[in-house]
Amino acid sequence: MENLRKKLQLINQSQVIDFMAELSPDRKASLLRQIEGLDFQKIPEWVEKYVKNEDCVKIPDHFDPAPSYPARPNTAEQAKKYAEAVKIGEAVISGGRAAGFVVAGGQGTRLGFDGPKGNYPISPVENKTLFRIFAENLLAVGKKYNTTLPFYIMTSPLNDDATVAIFQAANYYGLGKENVFIFQQGTLPNFDFDGNILLSEKDQIASSPDGHGGSLLALYNSGAVADMKKRGVEVLSYWQVDNPLINAIDPLFIGLHVADKAEMSSKALLKAGPMEKVGNFCAVDGKVTVIEYSDLPDAAAHRKNDDGSLAFELGSIGIHLIDVSFIEKLNNGGDFALPLHRAVKKIPHMDKNGRRIQPEVPNGVKLETFVFDAIPLADRSVILQTLRAEEFAPVKNAAGTDSAEVTRQMMTARAAAWLEAAGAQVPRKPDGTPDCALEIAPSFALTADDLKARFNQIPKIKSGDELYLG
Ligand code: UD1
Repeated sequence: MENLRKKLQLINQSQVIDFMAELSPDRKASLLRQIEGLDFQKIPEWVEKYVKNEDCVKIPDHFDPAPSYPARPNTAEQAKKYAEAVKIGEAVISGGRAAGFVVAGGQGTRLGFDGPKGNYPISPVENKTLFRIFAENLLAVGKKYNTTLPFYIMTSPLNDDATVAIFQAANYYGLGKENVFIFQQGTLPNFDFDGNILLSEKDQIASSPDGHGGSLLALYNSGAVADMKKRGVEVLSYWQVDNPLINAIDPLFIGLHVADKAEMSSKALLKAGPMEKVGNFCAVDGKVTVIEYSDLPDAAAHRKNDDGSLAFELGSIGIHLIDVSFIEKLNNGGDFALPLHRAVKKIPHMDKNGRRIQPEVPNGVKLETFVFDAIPLADRSVILQTLRAEEFAPVKNAAGTDSAEVTRQMMTARAAAWLEAAGAQVPRKPDGTPDCALEIAPSFALTADDLKARFNQIPKIKSGDELYLG
């Protein structure tokens, strides 16, 4: 014990064993295991560089807007490139070289939903959960291209057991247990403002998930990458758990990524305004780099092009393609680490006297990594713009913006647009929104074009209808 105390003293963290003498042998062993898991080498650096340093984000001196592909081709030449890319993407998919990957380790506190966010019921007619919608997407893509798409799901210690139980109870949504790989991300300790690691219980280090950037380590350490290699998977389609409109496996995006020999690529939205709270795609020394909205200087956020559009118009929405070989390359390098970001939070903890404190004001720092910080590490990177109405309706809040109600409206709105493009009539309210609830199952149509091909199966739609095409 004295040795351990000395070792901890060297990194100014001996308070984590303050209550050791009071613990039963089991609880003592558990705390010792957690201490063993701490990164003794890096903790002093984290404390100085991130915990005690409020300005830890370094904005590059010079950055430009990042180049991107438009959502629809603008020129004949581009149209040709897109058509070729779709063929390349389709070959990747039908060759079993693509897989789906959702990051689902977050706490989802803003939504106020008990349990993993992926289990949130969201579809407008059948009330399917987010996980079901994603799984049905992968199943439908597999059927369309006569292949199997494995589904990788990243959880955290907060929701791993519950997520596994949800998939089991749903019989893996028909994907087959062997095609679903659920794994946990890592955690990082929580600190008070002086840099002391906090205890949440006398035998429990306060910790939190290491951010979605932790996926690049966890995919490797969990054996997910090895599983991909065994299957011949080369490209991972990455998305966030809150977005049911995701085009989970997009041939065009995959094709552009492969044709341009990119290692990590992104989809982007044209921002709704200069201050929209999304990361900004920038170019720094020729590398695509995301600068968070909170870090982008106001002058840059408001800068306009000659045509009046925003200079920094591309927002990051957590949709990426990541080469399996890129994940391997990062991890094989030895000491791969993404920069940490600090978040000031209220962190429940034990005080010096062993009393449990529920702070009413922020009392410490949680650290996390962001997956988009890996983009500049890629040799090449593609950005493809997408359309909000087609592909982005995240459910984040209990009410208001990004609420479940808005997400459901957007799901119906996209279905309405596809139905009308196929030639069907959709009743609309005076304000133009659909006067019905519409849901198109991935097994019925994955795209507007798929729907056109099934026009004769679309019934007449009346005001107030709840139509499910499945
Ligand atoms: C994120 C993006 C923001 C983007 C928005 C789009 C960051 C820092 N911000 O914001 O630029 O415009 O999404 O919807 O990414 N997750 C984990 N483990 C973690 C933390 C998060 O798996 O440790 C997962 C969550 O489950 C979720 C996703 O990452 O699927 C995004 O996390 P969330 O905290 O919801 O991000 P936002 O703040 O909404």
